[in-house]
Amino acid sequence: MTSPTHPILSESEVISRLKSRRGQPGYLAMFSSWLGGVITDPALMQIPLDDHLVHRGHGVFDTCTLSGGNLYRLGIHIDRLLTSAALARIEHSWTKEDLIQMVIDTASQARVKEGAVRYWLTAGPGGFSPSPQECEEACFYCVIIDPVPLGSIQSDPMVSGIPEATVLDTPMKPPLLATIKSNNYLLNVLTHMEAVDRGGTFGVLVDEEGYVAESCVLNVVFVTKEGVLRTPPFDGILLGTTVRRIMNLAETTLVEEDLLSSVDQSPILASEVRGDAISEMFLCGGDTHLYPVTSWDQVPVGDGQVGSVAKRLIGLLEEEAFGTKTGESSDFIKVNYPD
Ligand SMILES: Cc1ncc(COP(=O)(O)O)c(C=O)c1O
Repeated sequence: MTSPTHPILSESEVISRLKSRRGQPGYLAMFSSWLGGVITDPALMQIPLDDHLVHRGHGVFDTCTLSGGNLYRLGIHIDRLLTSAALARIEHSWTKEDLIQMVIDTASQARVKEGAVRYWLTAGPGGFSPSPQECEEACFYCVIIDPVPLGSIQSDPMVSGIPEATVLDTPMKPPLLATIKSNNYLLNVLTHMEAVDRGGTFGVLVDEEGYVAESCVLNVVFVTKEGVLRTPPFDGILLGTTVRRIMNLAETTLVEEDLLSSVDQSPILASEVRGDAISEMFLCGGDTHLYPVTSWDQVPVGDGQVGSVAKRLIGLLEEEAFGTKTGESSDFIKVNYPD
């Protein structure tokens, strides 16, 4: 037997090591219902190790965008969080309004007007068995961070477009798991990694019968040569908030402007949307992210350039979230900041 090589750390040593390891300036504020307040020192933004979120993935999460001091589309994201929590059988007593208030409080203490917002509703701490019965109480955590574009590629992928690849070796989630925005995202991560290995970016999942499903953390949309915007139904994939907004904008503005003829949400065989059949393809998520796909499995999509539908939708989404805020007023929840 060798003697222990790692020391027992005192409280002050723990704090000083936490501070030296966690200087991340982009983490602006974290709310923890477990601690009952907001933390602004990134070193102290911690989650209990025995929260079943950590060791069982028994937690659900969602996001939204802090723009100009408003929480953009928080309501629709919280609706999805509550649905996810119900499907994951996480028992809690928070109402939609309670959850919104905890997010507002976090944003307010972050003291920034622009940011990315992520939050988790978890089975809570209590031990390491699979049973949530040992958990003392459900927990809610929220963090406000500096916004960073997905993909972290040097040029802006929303402007230049991305190559995509069909993922062949990573299995799809079963429908129950795919429709819950849960912390079981290992297959999503492997989807992304396999896509990169194949020369793609986020990956395109196609089911066993050949139908297009979704991407690792994004929904998939096609524009056919006839000008129909097509996306798959939400059975067996995540109920995307961005793609729903895109369908609304497409049905109204883009049809009116003659950029599209109609919108169709129905099963799509991957074989139907190859080659000449489509003029555009894009992935979308996170309220304002739309990634035009300029090649799919090494074949150019349309003319291999970012198309006019993608450009117009990016403009509309950004205008709505960051510009004149033209959307529904209920989509903007104002944050009151301390003096
Ligand atoms: C698996 C999956 N599909 C699609 C999406 C897109 O959803 P949203 O537009 O609500 O961000 C996400 C993002 O959260 C996702 O994780």
